[in-house]
Amino acid sequence: MSGQASPDALVDAQKSLEYWNGVDATPNGMLGGYASVSRVDLVGSRTFIAKLKLPDTPATSAGPRVADCGAGIGRVTKGFLSKLNGGRVCVDIVEPVEKFTDQARDNLNEEIDNGRVGEIYNVGLEDWVPEAGVYWVIWNQWCLGHLQDQQLVDYLERCKAGIVPGGVIVVKENVAPDPDDIYDEVDSSVMRTDPKLRTLFGRAGLRMVRTEVQRGLPKKLYQVRSYALKPS
Ligand SMILES: C[S@@+](CC[C@H](N)C(=O)[O-])C[C@H]1O[C@@H](n2cnc3c(N)ncnc32)[C@H](O)[C@@H]1O
Repeated sequence: MSGQASPDALVDAQKSLEYWNGVDATPNGMLGGYASVSRVDLVGSRTFIAKLKLPDTPATSAGPRVADCGAGIGRVTKGFLSKLNGGRVCVDIVEPVEKFTDQARDNLNEEIDNGRVGEIYNVGLEDWVPEAGVYWVIWNQWCLGHLQDQQLVDYLERCKAGIVPGGVIVVKENVAPDPDDIYDEVDSSVMRTDPKLRTLFGRAGLRMVRTEVQRGLPKKLYQVRSYALKPS
């Protein structure tokens, strides 16, 4: 790509927010018209996390804290994260688009009442600073393309500081076919290749403890891959 801007340099947060503000606050809106993949995605995520060795949570303490980042309307929190650890969990939501967090409050009203959902932060990940040393899991799905490469490295470093000892950062994203990242001007995001993602994880001082391709998605969609990351 010599002489050309790298695709991530084209990512423009303002344009992304304009795009997302025009999208329906529904599962179909979140999934680009593919609401039908939600179920298989959530089952895949549950299976993926079950294979990770998460630190034990003392039965006496409050449930472990989890973050759902770029959470949209709370699809992942509702369908999966709020059920972790037998439902003894407290999920914080991070999402910059207010109409989505408003909808998440409605969708998750039961979970908010019973304490399975905690804070709702209306902020982009480039500006979110997780509280240090508190998160059991930080889940990032279909949103990291809205950060430029260096923003992503800085963000992952903050996540690294945000997890408990033994905690895990999960990234679940579309993966671009090699060799180049692809800029999408519709929502001003970048889809990265698998080697590029691994390079950025390394730059953030993270090692990959597990990775898997999501199975059962329609063939015409890009490959979706989950990565579980811990401090190197
Ligand atoms: C494809 S949706 C995925 C939502 C959710 N993770 C899911 O899987 O249902 C992408 C989400 O990223 C959010 N987003 C856009 N820019 C962001 C940013 N800078 N930081 C965090 N999230 C962002 C959008 O508002 C939208 O909710």
